[in-house]
Amino acid sequence: MSSTNGRDGMLRIDNLSVYYGGIQALKDVSLHLETGELLAIIGANGAGKTTLLRTLSGVLKARSGSIRFEGKELTRLSPFDIVALGIAHSPEGRQLFGGLTVLENLKLGAVQRTDRAAIEQDLARTFELFPVLKERRLQRAGTLSGGEQQMLAIGRALMARPRLLLLDEPSLGLAPLLVERNIRRDRPPQGRTRHATAGRTKRAYGAERGRSGLRDGDRPHQVARYGRRAGRQP
Ligand SMILES: Nc1ncnc2c1ncn2[C@@H]1O[C@H](COP(=O)(O)OP(=O)(O)OP(=O)(O)O)[C@@H](O)[C@H]1O
Ligand SMILES: [Mg+2]
Repeated sequence: MSSTNGRDGMLRIDNLSVYYGGIQALKDVSLHLETGELLAIIGANGAGKTTLLRTLSGVLKARSGSIRFEGKELTRLSPFDIVALGIAHSPEGRQLFGGLTVLENLKLGAVQRTDRAAIEQDLARTFELFPVLKERRLQRAGTLSGGEQQMLAIGRALMARPRLLLLDEPSLGLAPLLVERNIRRDRPPQGRTRHATAGRTKRAYGAERGRSGLRDGDRPHQVARYGRRAGRQP
């Protein structure tokens, strides 16, 4: 269905369906993302946002449909191979290594990289973005506060120097000011795209539970309870 030509943009998802056992969580989801674009997925609890991001990063397998990232089909690749292609995921629930230090967790984000000097630069940039992580770099991740753990999860994903950054509930547990300063206003470095559930949104899709997939919108719109579209933002 998709080709490798430029029209596919960076990411193109076609008719993606994902099940948990017999329960269908995503039904015929289609969306696309251009390089440099920031895209929000908005929807009620249970609408399938996390399922979509987990399928993108290869943790869940699609029953049908396709995900093409820069022309490559992802649906049959392992999470490891998907990271190697340049997709990093800051997951819901953070999933840090609680017994390891902040620094060790950040370095794990760069585990597939060999460019040591650039890794050090990215570490410095992460500490600049989240100074509390620098202060606490030798503290075990499991003893951080909820918001600090969220910063670490985002920082770890950034340490992969991804071309596509997936953030699931990036503002959960973070002070609103920090979100405003670091997530909404921070420009992605050149050539990177953020695919987020909140942020400096250029476009948004509303995830609707039990409906066929996600709806495309050329401007951000809000989705009210149980996924009904509440209307576009002014
Ligand atoms: N491991 C699982 N086994 C069975 N069903 C699951 C599993 N994980 C999620 N689901 C179901 O799939 C649907 C989509 O869940 P998902 O976590 O993707 O929603 P979400 O949009 O991220 O919600 P929230 O805003 O609450 O995080 C829900 O009905 C959920 O109960
Ligand atoms: Mg979720």
